[in-house]
Amino acid sequence: KIKRITAADIAARKGGEPIVALTAYDAPTAEILDQHCDVLLVGDSLGMVVHGLPSTVGVTLEMMILHGQAVMRGAQKAMVVIDMPFGSYEESPEQAFANASRIMKETGAQAIKIESGAYAAETVSFLVQRGIPVMGHIGLRPQAVNVAGGFRAKGRSTQECADVLEEAEATAKAGAFAIVVEGVAEDLANQITAAVSVPTIGIGASSSCDGQILVTQDMLGLFDWTPKFVKRYGDLKSVIDKAAGDYAAEVRSRSFPAEGQVYSLKPKLVGDTA
Ligand code: KIV
Ligand code: NA
Repeated sequence: KIKRITAADIAARKGGEPIVALTAYDAPTAEILDQHCDVLLVGDSLGMVVHGLPSTVGVTLEMMILHGQAVMRGAQKAMVVIDMPFGSYEESPEQAFANASRIMKETGAQAIKIESGAYAAETVSFLVQRGIPVMGHIGLRPQAVNVAGGFRAKGRSTQECADVLEEAEATAKAGAFAIVVEGVAEDLANQITAAVSVPTIGIGASSSCDGQILVTQDMLGLFDWTPKFVKRYGDLKSVIDKAAGDYAAEVRSRSFPAEGQVYSLKPKLVGDTA
């Protein structure tokens, strides 16, 4: 049996070999990514990239659990972290504990992630003290899209920089084992990484972060539009487009299925006496 990477292993990577993280939403993809990644995040971005929602606000606990179960079946080695969706943890530490423990029981995953604005420090420490490893998430917080008025990178003013640094420090002090730093100016990401004692995992941040994460569907090139910080490492959209087009043409010309794809059995028909 392969030993799975733990929250303590990830925490120990501060300032060391960069942590490799990607999102995963289904079992076969998780099995492939497991060969390359330290952390697989079942992120609530699945609402947008799998379910076609306009933001992550509509994602439910049930969706996170269902995809979390699939990823846990596919990945043996990587640490699996599951996002708590909007509305499942903000009300109180008690609400967060009830829903986080449910996610862990029903999926077998070892940790959850919350978007940890400075207000969330109390919840982070409540969960960690009670046995739930927490990954924080600061900077551009997609669940706050309706307050922010859009998905905008942070670090445009001295006040904004101070606020984001405060979110990071509060999250780390509260006991998070790692912090996702999303959509912040490079200098600010560097400053946060130097200031906190736990690993920072950057997305639209800086190569000096202690690790990096991208949304897998974005980096595989499934979409025409992606945020500036995404680098496309594949061209999945054109691969799928070509395969579906070739299939459609062959069905229409009756060249699929061909000899190799049909069963040439000679059935004995019921009542056949020959
Ligand atoms: O939901 C998600 O994909 C995330 C990553 C972008 C960090 O939270
Ligand atoms: Na997320």
